[in-house]
Amino acid sequence: MIRLTVNGASREFDGEPDMPLLWYLRDILDMTGTKYGCGLGQCGACTVHVNGTAMRSCLTTMKAAAGKRVTTIEGLSPDGNHPVQKAWKECNVPQCGYCQSGQIMQAASLLKQKPKPSDSDIDTAMQGNICRCGTYQRIRKAIKLAAGVEG
Ligand code: FES
Ligand code: FES
Repeated sequence: MIRLTVNGASREFDGEPDMPLLWYLRDILDMTGTKYGCGLGQCGACTVHVNGTAMRSCLTTMKAAAGKRVTTIEGLSPDGNHPVQKAWKECNVPQCGYCQSGQIMQAASLLKQKPKPSDSDIDTAMQGNICRCGTYQRIRKAIKLAAGVEG
C-alpha cells in the first residue's frame, strides 16, 4: 500500500507501484488540471509539486511519491489567488491554455526557492516548460509581476 498526500488530503494507492503519478492524478483522482503532453519529461505540461518542488508527474512513479506531499494546480491555492495565478490573469498569459498549469506550477516553485529571481533564474527554471503557442514573453512578465521585480 502506498500512502501519500494530495492537495492536503491523505490517500492510499494499492495499484501498480511503477504507474506514473500523472495517471493517478488524472485517471483515478479525476484531477485533470495536470496535463499529459509528451509523457517523456520533455514538455513540462504535467508539472506538480512534490514536497514543495516542481516535478514532472509523467516521470514520477507512485512508489517514488510514497510518503510525499503532492500539490497539483487544483491545490495551489484554495481560491485560485496564488500570487502567480493573479499575475497570470493580470498579464492574460494563456492562449490555448494546455501548457499553463505546468507553467504556473513551475513558476510557483521557482518563486518559493527564489522570491526575487533574475532573468537568468527565470530562464533556467522555465526552460523545460514548452508552450506551443509561444506565450513565453507573457510568462516572463507575469513571473516578474508576481515577484515584484522590475520587468
Ligand atoms: S507530459 Fe510530463 S514532461 Fe511532458
Ligand atoms: S498556451 Fe497553448 S501551449 Fe501554451
